[in-house]
Amino acid sequence: MKTCIKHIREIVGIVPEGVLRKQGHEMNETGVLHDAWLLIDGDRIAAFGPKAEMPTDADSYIDAEDGLLMPSFCDSHTHIVYAGSREGEFIDKINGLSYEEIARRGGGILNSADRLHETTEDELYEQSMARVNEMISKGTGAMEIKSGYGLRTEDELKMLRVIRRIREHTPALVRSTFLGAHAIGRGYKHDEYVRLVAEEMIPAVAKEGLADFVDVFCDEGFFTVEDTNLILLAGEQYGLRPKIHANELAVSGGVQVGVKHKALSVDHLEKTTDAEIEALRGTNTMPTMLPGSSFFLGLPYGRAKEFIEAGLGVALASDYNPGSSPSGDMRFVMAMGCIRMRLTTVQALNAVTLNSAYAMGVSDELGSITVGKRANLILTRPLNSLTMIPYMYQTPFIKQIILNGKLL
Ligand code: NIG
Ligand code: FE
Repeated sequence: MKTCIKHIREIVGIVPEGVLRKQGHEMNETGVLHDAWLLIDGDRIAAFGPKAEMPTDADSYIDAEDGLLMPSFCDSHTHIVYAGSREGEFIDKINGLSYEEIARRGGGILNSADRLHETTEDELYEQSMARVNEMISKGTGAMEIKSGYGLRTEDELKMLRVIRRIREHTPALVRSTFLGAHAIGRGYKHDEYVRLVAEEMIPAVAKEGLADFVDVFCDEGFFTVEDTNLILLAGEQYGLRPKIHANELAVSGGVQVGVKHKALSVDHLEKTTDAEIEALRGTNTMPTMLPGSSFFLGLPYGRAKEFIEAGLGVALASDYNPGSSPSGDMRFVMAMGCIRMRLTTVQALNAVTLNSAYAMGVSDELGSITVGKRANLILTRPLNSLTMIPYMYQTPFIKQIILNGKLL
């Protein structure tokens, strides 16, 4: 079944086959084609080209009516499987408590763990799936989802089984990350919990094949570099590649320990020095920044421009979670990349598509307009240019979502 999208004002996000990420000055480039068409065959991008060469043998045609066509957003860092909400803490925050203070009072992640413990797997699936559908409706076509609100073996497995079920039922591409080391579970001593993660949880998760990646919240007041090292070593034995929470609350050493273990990405990076930039140079690790948590918690924004000037790539993701970033709106993430981090619109586009696909290990399949890649696309309403998307950041811009070649 061949579908041709015609009358496209601009295709943006064209990347040659085999390019899996962009770094340094490559971040300033994206392939653009004006007055174009794109042909979908089954679930794949089959071809695209200029108006004069439009195929005449497609089974159906969609009129883009002068809209832009771009790759779906890839959201490489989310915690969307959670139970209930934390709006009480939102009030605490308005009243002046910091994220760390709320956590120290037993709120925060532990609060979500209590709710999750009381919630059945079916109910958790329903609540989480609503968020997945919300993200899809805002243009996300691939998402990574973490565990980390279980904090005891059975509840971590419950979360990961919910992620597996989401993966089986959503048209978006899903990758799963085991984040048992998100906080010390209630009732455990620090070292006892670290051992539980490394020696009991990781083998149990691997036995059921429930995770693609392993993550640790390597930050002040949570897990140390030594804890992280131990947990990543355990993960390595089971083939789990790391994605690290690093340098959100302090210069934590999380970037360096992540790089040492060949992490696919190191995420957050609100607090970084030049040493972190140096540590990332020449590696395969994607620095990933989460402007949604900077916005919501009032933290500094990541130094994305300096990272790029130093020759590194940058990915942006939503961090969608109930405590530090209760939004999965990747268009808003892109806008914050431009408005608060001063990325150009093209840099921001690369950060929320190809590079975020790389940061979840799927950029061979998604994240750009490339022949052979999965047809996960956003067709926009009529727009002057890509810049309109982050600039008019509240104005609805999506005309049609296409996932796996199908119109939603
Ligand atoms: O990425 N920083 C640690 N974890 C999440 C927050 C989780 C929560 O507060 O529920 C984050 O911001
Ligand atoms: Fe996170």
